[in-house]
Amino acid sequence: MNNPKRYTVTAALPYANGPVHIGHLAGCYLPADIYVRYLRLRGKDVRFVCGSDEHGVPITIKAKKEGVTPQDIVDRYHGMMKNAFADFGIDFDIYSRTSSKVHHENASEFFKTLYEKGALVERETQQYYDAEAKQFLADRYITGTCPNCSHDGAYGDQCENCGTSLSPTDLINPKSALSGAIPELKGTKNWFLPLDKLSPKLRAYLDEHKDWKSNVYGQCKSWLDSGDGLQPRAMTRDLDWGVPVPVEGGEGKVLYVWFDAPIGYISATRELEGENWEQWWKDEETKLVHFIGKDNIVFHCIIFPAMLMEHGGYVLADNVPANEFLNLEGDKISTSRNWAVWLHEYLEDFPGKQDVLRYALGSTMPETKDNDFTWKDFQARNNNELVAILGNFVNRVMVLNKKYYDGVLPEGVTLSDEDKSTLAGIKIYADRVSKGIENYKFRDALAEFMNLARLGNKYLAEQEPWKLVKTDAERTKTVMFTASQIAASLAVLAQPFLPHTAEKLKSFLAIDELEWSLLDQELILKEGHSLGEFGILFDKIEDKEVDAQIEKLEATKNADPDYESVKEEIQFDDFQKIDLRVGTIIEAVKVPKAKKLLNLTIDLGFETRTILSGIAEHYTAEEIVGKKVTVVANLAPRKMRGIESQGMILMGETKEGKLTFADPGQEAENGYPVA
Ligand code: MF3
Ligand code: ZN
Repeated sequence: MNNPKRYTVTAALPYANGPVHIGHLAGCYLPADIYVRYLRLRGKDVRFVCGSDEHGVPITIKAKKEGVTPQDIVDRYHGMMKNAFADFGIDFDIYSRTSSKVHHENASEFFKTLYEKGALVERETQQYYDAEAKQFLADRYITGTCPNCSHDGAYGDQCENCGTSLSPTDLINPKSALSGAIPELKGTKNWFLPLDKLSPKLRAYLDEHKDWKSNVYGQCKSWLDSGDGLQPRAMTRDLDWGVPVPVEGGEGKVLYVWFDAPIGYISATRELEGENWEQWWKDEETKLVHFIGKDNIVFHCIIFPAMLMEHGGYVLADNVPANEFLNLEGDKISTSRNWAVWLHEYLEDFPGKQDVLRYALGSTMPETKDNDFTWKDFQARNNNELVAILGNFVNRVMVLNKKYYDGVLPEGVTLSDEDKSTLAGIKIYADRVSKGIENYKFRDALAEFMNLARLGNKYLAEQEPWKLVKTDAERTKTVMFTASQIAASLAVLAQPFLPHTAEKLKSFLAIDELEWSLLDQELILKEGHSLGEFGILFDKIEDKEVDAQIEKLEATKNADPDYESVKEEIQFDDFQKIDLRVGTIIEAVKVPKAKKLLNLTIDLGFETRTILSGIAEHYTAEEIVGKKVTVVANLAPRKMRGIESQGMILMGETKEGKLTFADPGQEAENGYPVA
């Protein structure tokens, strides 16, 4: 959209279930912030909205684990996240939350409108129900044996052992994670958005946006073109944490978290703008841009637009610049494994160095593919670029101006052709920065900003004012005057990327207001302009500082606190029900077409048993024959791959996930109890 009247920019509402880390920042908050700051610098009318996503099953699961309420969890993290963003200069106009009253009302109203328009289809489906806990179970609340790899702790939506995505009804021996009860299938009514019927409209929308980043466009296309095409999707769930379904028959149900969360953008705008909110969402001349991570693409490019289309009256996103993922030191960032750089911890270790992280992340942002953050690269970006190029240039300008002219820009300068072409460079680089940002190529834009500082250094190195001053005082004035203009342009251009640095530069150079229009002027600073006080912009980061960070990460790897939480307490009698016996593996054969399963024949002394065990990826059949094992002898038999397994053998696990035998010892006699 060319020349919109105003911009509404959103950044994905993060789940309020953990602190903010560098992956969040690089994924969407930093690019969104750069974009918004740039627009503001150009005097555009823009609103930047975000907030905490406080519904969803991961939050209720965390609450359950800790024995607190979901509200306790989101209250704990909402403030912390809000502060972390503010500390790093992510300059939202509002950081709201989806548990707020405004949002509940707004999301309800939105749902009701769709309902009344007949845009939703009522459907009865069979869902697992926990009769003991008296509730329907979200996919994550059901565990069981994976039909693919026979891993025992697979979830209703996915097996984390083999990665297969599952439906709850795929699980063998499903169990409720709430009570341990065996869930039963029960009919329940929910409201679906008929994405199948909407697909022509969605396709037309997508076709208007072939300019989107290829990762985004490609993912949407493959959704639309996949085998069965789009399927109706439930917009309500049988859960108790969320926005209550506001229509008849909706008792005990809440809106699907991916229904309510994006409406959170609208709610936040309403909270911010009061009665004036509509122009930000309903005026054709408003450009709406969603910054997200790649795991959010279908929700923002298909489901949310479908909701908005069905509601009517809303503008649709003009662009959805999604980033890929950022890794850390070669490994996937993981909150549960504590493999992350947390913003609040970074600030403790590197106080005042927010812009260094912004710069390092801005330079390695995973714009087109996953990318890796390393502490060595962070150090190099700081020492070789921020200190050696930008900091060095600015410092020379400030120091020499102070020394030669007591901080007052000389008067009576005569620009040579060389000076003029150097000054023309400002416009060239500024133009590249602006093109980069407008095309969502933030890394390129940041690189061009640094190139302008390089130009400044090159100019000083060629002109050598520190030598010139001894032979040609007049010419030195012009050189310093010219170099000062570059420093001033860097102050303006730093604003989107390095806002804390831009503020410092603004005060060093005594510029009233940082505005893009300064770059369009012949000169930014006038002859006779008084500069301000100055200091050092960036310090070198020593090896020992980054080594300490690397060690800290290594330590989390070794300590890996990835313990599963201990199951609910049982009584001695419960334990006594389990009959553990000593056995010996007398035969082992691979189960055809099951990559994890071995068919074991176990000598239990009083009889032999067939037991299927998911250890084939850890042991060959040959190497385990003759092994003593601990057998659960009274486990109800169950069929896998058409073979009846009569019990189970106990295995331990190493940190790396290798399975080991729970060995009762060589002397233990087959058939005797293990207790
Ligand atoms: N909470 C989601 C996540 O962290 C993002 C929600 S974006 C919104 O992946 F559009 F739903 F708000
Ligand atoms: Zn599996």
